[in-house]
Amino acid sequence: TDLTPIKDVYQNDFLIGNAVSAADLQGSRLDLLKLHHNVVTAENAMKPGSLQAEKGVFTFDAANALVNEALANGLQMYGHVLVWHQQSPDWMNLAADGTPLSREEALTNMQTHIQTVMENFGDKVIGWDVVNEAMNDNPPNPTNWKASLRQSNWYKSIGADYVEQAFLAAKEVVKQNGWDIKLYYNDYNTDNQNKAEAIYQMVKDINDRYAANNNGDLLIDGIGMQGHYNLNTNPDNVDSSLEKFISLGVEVSVSELDIQAGSNGVQTEEEKIAQGYLYAQLFNIYKEHADNIARVTFWGLNDANSWRASASPLVFDKDLQAKPAYDAIIDPEAF
Ligand code: XIL
Repeated sequence: TDLTPIKDVYQNDFLIGNAVSAADLQGSRLDLLKLHHNVVTAENAMKPGSLQAEKGVFTFDAANALVNEALANGLQMYGHVLVWHQQSPDWMNLAADGTPLSREEALTNMQTHIQTVMENFGDKVIGWDVVNEAMNDNPPNPTNWKASLRQSNWYKSIGADYVEQAFLAAKEVVKQNGWDIKLYYNDYNTDNQNKAEAIYQMVKDINDRYAANNNGDLLIDGIGMQGHYNLNTNPDNVDSSLEKFISLGVEVSVSELDIQAGSNGVQTEEEKIAQGYLYAQLFNIYKEHADNIARVTFWGLNDANSWRASASPLVFDKDLQAKPAYDAIIDPEAF
C-alpha cells in the first residue's frame, strides 16, 4: 500500500506502538504492524498469569518467542506487566482458604516475580509497567492517595506500600544490571480528574522520598495513561491530566489507546467521523506535549481483533483497511 506510515509522521515526537499476540507477527498483519509502528507491547503474553501461573514455575517460551520475533522485525518491545490485580494467579497473594497471605510471604512472591521476569527479558524491553491499575475509580478524597488505592489482594496482603515496594524491587534489578530501561506506573480513566490527582499524589510522594535519599534520582520514571476512551471522553480532561503528570518531571506515555464508537461490531459513518475527530483532538494534544511523551501505543491493530471489538475502537477495520481515524491521526489539524 502507499499509505503514509503513522510512525513517520510522528518520528520527531514519540514512538508509535501497538499491542500484539503471536498471530500479529505474521503475514499481512505483520506488514501493517511494521509499516505504521516502531514498538509493541505483548497484549497478554507477559502478564503474571502467563509467566508464573504455578509458584516457582516460570513459563517464558511463548513470551521469549514473541519478543525475539518483534526485535527481529525491527520493532522495539515494551514490558507489560509485573504487578496487577488481574490475570495474576491467586497463590501470589492469597492463602488456600482465600484469605490474604502475610505481608512477608506476599512481598517475597512479588519480589521474586519482578526479579525473575525482569532478568529473563533484560534490556530487550525499553521499559516495564511495574504496577498496573492500583488506584480506585473517581476517588472522593484524592489528596489522600493511600485511601484512594484499590483494595486489591496485593493491597490486602502487603499494605499501601506495595506499589513503592514493587518499584524498589524493579529499580534494584535495573541498577544491578546497569540497564537503560524505564519503570512505569500505568492506569486507566486517568482523564477523571480525581483519579489523576490521586495518581499524581502517589507518584509525587514515592518519588520525593526516594529522590531525597538518592541524589534526586526518580523511582518511578514514567506514567502510562492507558486511554480506553469513548465518544463522551472530554479531551480537555485528557490534556489537564497529561499536564499534571508532566509537572512531576516524569515521562508520560499513552499506553493502550482505543476509542469505542459503535455497538455489535457495527459502526455508522457518523460514528466513524466522530471517532476520527476525537483521535484528531487527542493527537493534537499529544503533539503539543511531544517533548514529554515517549510513546503512543494503540491497543490492537484492527477492530475485529480488539478486546472491545463490538465497539470498533481502532484505526483499521476488519479487513485491515484504514478508517477515517487513520486520516485524523496522519493530519489531526486538518481533520
Ligand atoms: C486486556 C487484553 O486486551 C485482553 O485480550 C485480555 O482478555 C484482558 O486484558 N488494561 C490493561 C490490559 O492493562 O492488559 C488489558 O488487556 C486491557 C485493560
